Amino acid sequence: MLNDKLGSWVRTHYCGDLTAEQIGQEVCVMGWVQRRRDHGGLIFIDLRDREGIIQLALDPDRDLASLKKAEQVRNEFVLAARGKVSHRPEGTVNPKMKTGEVEIEISEMLILNRSETPPFMLDEFTEVAENIRLKYRYLDLRRPALQKNLLLRHLVAKTVRNYFDGQGFIEIETPILTKSTPEGARDYLVPSRVNNGTFYALPQSPQLFKQLLMVSGFDRYFQIVKCFRDEDLRADRQPEFTQIDCEMSFVSRNQVMDIMEGMIAKVFKVALGVEVHLPMPRLTYAEALDRFGVDNPDLRFDLELIDITQQVAGSQFKVFASVAASEGLVKALNVKGCATFSRKELDDLGDFAKIYGAKGLAWVKVTADGWQSPIAKFFTADELTVLNDKLDAEVGDLLLFMADTPAIANEALGRLRGHLGQKLGLASKDEYKFSWVTDFPLLEWDAEQRRHVAVHHPFTAPLEEDISLLDSNPGQARAQAYDLVLNGSEIGGGSIRIHDQAVQSQMFELLGIGAEEAQEKFGFLLDALNFGAPPHGGIAFGLDRLMMILTGADSIRDVIAFPKTQKASCMLSDAPNHVDDKQLQELGIRLRANQK
Ligand code: AMO
Ligand code: AMP
Repeated sequence: MLNDKLGSWVRTHYCGDLTAEQIGQEVCVMGWVQRRRDHGGLIFIDLRDREGIIQLALDPDRDLASLKKAEQVRNEFVLAARGKVSHRPEGTVNPKMKTGEVEIEISEMLILNRSETPPFMLDEFTEVAENIRLKYRYLDLRRPALQKNLLLRHLVAKTVRNYFDGQGFIEIETPILTKSTPEGARDYLVPSRVNNGTFYALPQSPQLFKQLLMVSGFDRYFQIVKCFRDEDLRADRQPEFTQIDCEMSFVSRNQVMDIMEGMIAKVFKVALGVEVHLPMPRLTYAEALDRFGVDNPDLRFDLELIDITQQVAGSQFKVFASVAASEGLVKALNVKGCATFSRKELDDLGDFAKIYGAKGLAWVKVTADGWQSPIAKFFTADELTVLNDKLDAEVGDLLLFMADTPAIANEALGRLRGHLGQKLGLASKDEYKFSWVTDFPLLEWDAEQRRHVAVHHPFTAPLEEDISLLDSNPGQARAQAYDLVLNGSEIGGGSIRIHDQAVQSQMFELLGIGAEEAQEKFGFLLDALNFGAPPHGGIAFGLDRLMMILTGADSIRDVIAFPKTQKASCMLSDAPNHVDDKQLQELGIRLRANQK
């Protein structure tokens, strides 16, 4: 029962764009009611649109009909209002708001739609359970914080497109209904009706198609593209997510990295006004592991891992000596000034390390009287001097030690480093520390499958100087791969590809993919490599992860309009859901009894 119609009304301004500059102008705004306040005959309405909030002032002496309508108005009603922009009365100016100096003296108002009481307040201050927010996502998205995130996402996508266009890249769409592209996750499958019993896979990335585009001679390709991966979800992972995907022909790793740095620097300049220093530092994988324990180090703080295997190999502390004797590593962190940690805090650090498989975490408090520690008694005075020197230990420091296999010692202590960085506030949210990590191993041994698997993907080329290792010692071969790490988060990864058919076939063999299986799965790529494939390489960035960092969001869901939950479902639409028997029949699919 709405009788107010838009008719010939035309909006002149966004609510949030009105400032003292428009004082005296007749304007027309449209938006949602944030709040209504009654002040003895006068009514004030805060009207909101995507650009912000403006105060409407309704006075019975100016327009009694509108005031009467305003009496019915509730939160989230949709209004159109006309009037003159004026200075707010003395004492009512709100310097915190962009529009806080002005209000509109309403001369005519329409109620364009009503709203039920929303399930939560649509402001910046109300904490709302996430399942409610996701169910009413269209309301959640009205909140200024999410509007800001999505507007910034648009600006970033636009900047990326402009940058690549300027560098001679062409945006080309690749198929969504396709064949499995291995990136290490499970595929999402789509059954075919026309070809009963067969399935498409949704792409985990456009990897194979972008390589084919290089064979076709497009030279420089990019795409802002959805990718699909059925994997266990975490705070920075979604089952469908967006990549900034690129590929280039006739390039070396350094050229790819240089061009991509330029893109990232441009994005940071436009989105945040932040100047990124180029070139970005480059670390090899081996150096990253040695110094930080992980291949995605947070470089906003030091706290480097120190290898003391040599220094403790001959000590009386059996845990350390035996690990040193069995090709393990003993590594330490010097947590400056933290000798004040309580017993409970030390136990918590030990428990944290255990999540990553550590068998223990030894600690030392450096005091004026020497080491205070359960393990102090195992070391001679000379050994203590050597260790203190190596660790740059000073009174007041806390030393943490881990002895384990190289993999566990690095990962557990590396994660502990990240954890301490957070706990001690060493990592500031408005600092941006980039690093490329290069020279990853080409392969890793999968104990469960008892075969090598590709660390990046099977199309990644080995380092030239390591090609001979493919025959003699493939596990030692390094890849022409690179990841871009920002503040401890992997935001992109890529490589120079194999463009020689024989090397690609050898790679499949190393991965335990026989000639027949390779032909069946990737025959089209192998064939294409035989028809003049140029040397090529590329990279893909996780746009969602990048947006998390640019907006400071804690969850990847806060930078995606309609995200999925940790269980890969959509609370808003209830996807995934059951389908009619008829649909299944057409697809030739029968469900197992317990899954109906
Ligand atoms: P990769 O698998 O490293 O490389 O993916 C590239 C980037 O995509 C982001 N990402 C994700 N973001 C959100 N949710 C996920 N589930 C998710 N998985 C990955 C990460 C990652 O760095 N084809 C190659 C690229 C190439 O070689 O050119 C690829 O897909 O930020
Ligand atoms: P224990 O002799 O087993 O009582 O251990 C003495 C100290 O060494 C304890 O603080 C343990 O947490 C620590 N510890 C045990 N195993 C390891 C290990 N692999 N690396 C580092 N510290 C350890």
